[in-house]
Amino acid sequence: MGSILVGHTDSLFGNVPIQGAKNSALPILAATILCTGTCIVNNCPDLSDVNSTVDILKALGAKVKKEKNCITVDSSNINSYIVPQEMMTKLRSSILFLGSVVSRMGKAELYLPGGCKLGPRPIDWHLKALSDMGLEISLQNDMLKCETYGKLKGTQILLPLPSVGATENIILAAVLARGTTIIKNAAREPEICDLCNFLSSCGARIFGAGSSTIEIIGVDELYGTEHNVIPDRIVAATFMSATAITTGKVTLLNVVPKHLKSISKVIKKSGCMISTTQDTLTIESSGEIKSVGKVITDPYPGFPTDAQALIMAMCTIAKGNSEFVENIFENRYKHVEELLKLGADINVVGKKAIVNGVESLYGNHLKAKDLRGAAALIVASLAAKGETIIEGSEHLDRGYENFELHFKNIGANIKRI
Ligand code: EPZ
Repeated sequence: MGSILVGHTDSLFGNVPIQGAKNSALPILAATILCTGTCIVNNCPDLSDVNSTVDILKALGAKVKKEKNCITVDSSNINSYIVPQEMMTKLRSSILFLGSVVSRMGKAELYLPGGCKLGPRPIDWHLKALSDMGLEISLQNDMLKCETYGKLKGTQILLPLPSVGATENIILAAVLARGTTIIKNAAREPEICDLCNFLSSCGARIFGAGSSTIEIIGVDELYGTEHNVIPDRIVAATFMSATAITTGKVTLLNVVPKHLKSISKVIKKSGCMISTTQDTLTIESSGEIKSVGKVITDPYPGFPTDAQALIMAMCTIAKGNSEFVENIFENRYKHVEELLKLGADINVVGKKAIVNGVESLYGNHLKAKDLRGAAALIVASLAAKGETIIEGSEHLDRGYENFELHFKNIGANIKRI
């Protein structure tokens, strides 16, 4: 287990290139096994979660070449329908191989997925939808045995909530199914659109991605393609909250500002100025953080749960109180206990957290418990007086490429120990 040492940092200045989105790259890589030809996926972030996904692709028989941020997948010889348990439990998005493996092989044998522990993360909506499409599923001792007995059949699926993973799994199962699948109450995240754009360029027929109703007309075959993964909006939010808490001026390169709308709105409330071009976003701190009022996490285009910890870290030294309501996950306040060790004043009652801004934070020894929580602890530590050690840097490596390097380049006092 590694640690990060963060020293007090007055201000951040410079440019940061934003990596490709983890939560786009992972479903797109899972989708490559649906194609008969070779897929080239560019702007793929170099992360442990991506490496774990590459291991799954190889276990299924794909030929994979990884060169920096470009992954080439030749799926012409997929010969296995089994994903070993140790590979499934490394990450949450391994469950997306359910849709893609049954679609390609007509059957699948896999296990319950891993990922950040944010409270219960069931996959009942994934299983119900695929079973409505004709998949026979049995679950024994964490093992999922699935068989299609012929092609899956398109149908209408109404999701109880716009689940990102369930929407992706249904799309992966539906692109090669017989007939039309309609997903109602589908997730609208940019990463869903990216997956659909990738699949469409392979020959899939998908309509309505980005809206609540997605229609997929099954086709007989998908072909290889070349695709660029969209920028990671949560990595962008990390540098935005760090600039706000330390003061300074930072330009994020290679972003899609409209994907950052709900985050920018909250950060502007804190007093920062934000300006954008087509693919850059510049954030300039006013030197003081104001309360951001109420932040409620919701499915896209609402405020993302993945940025909740980051904005909370920023608000620990704001003038006044800010309120957070976490609507997506039951247990996504694990960073609070650690922020308190820095001197923050935060009260959690159920879904709500009230942050009373304090004058100063003080360095301490902290323990990161999940990916975005780890990044939030680093954001707060930049503003803390003295030094902070954050244990658990492996959480960061699941989602951030060259984390310390990018921070160092803009003047942060940070190193891995
Ligand atoms: C995706 O997780 C992301 N992960 C998460 O990012 C993100 O926090 C989340 O979407 C919400 O935006 C990936 O894309 C790999 P959901 P996912 O299905 O798909 C409940 C990060 O830090 N639910 O939209 O697992 C579920 O329990 C990660 O990068 C069911 O009850 O999220 C949750 O309360 C963390 N049954 C809610 O829906 C189901 O079958 C939303 O989950 C499926 C979901």
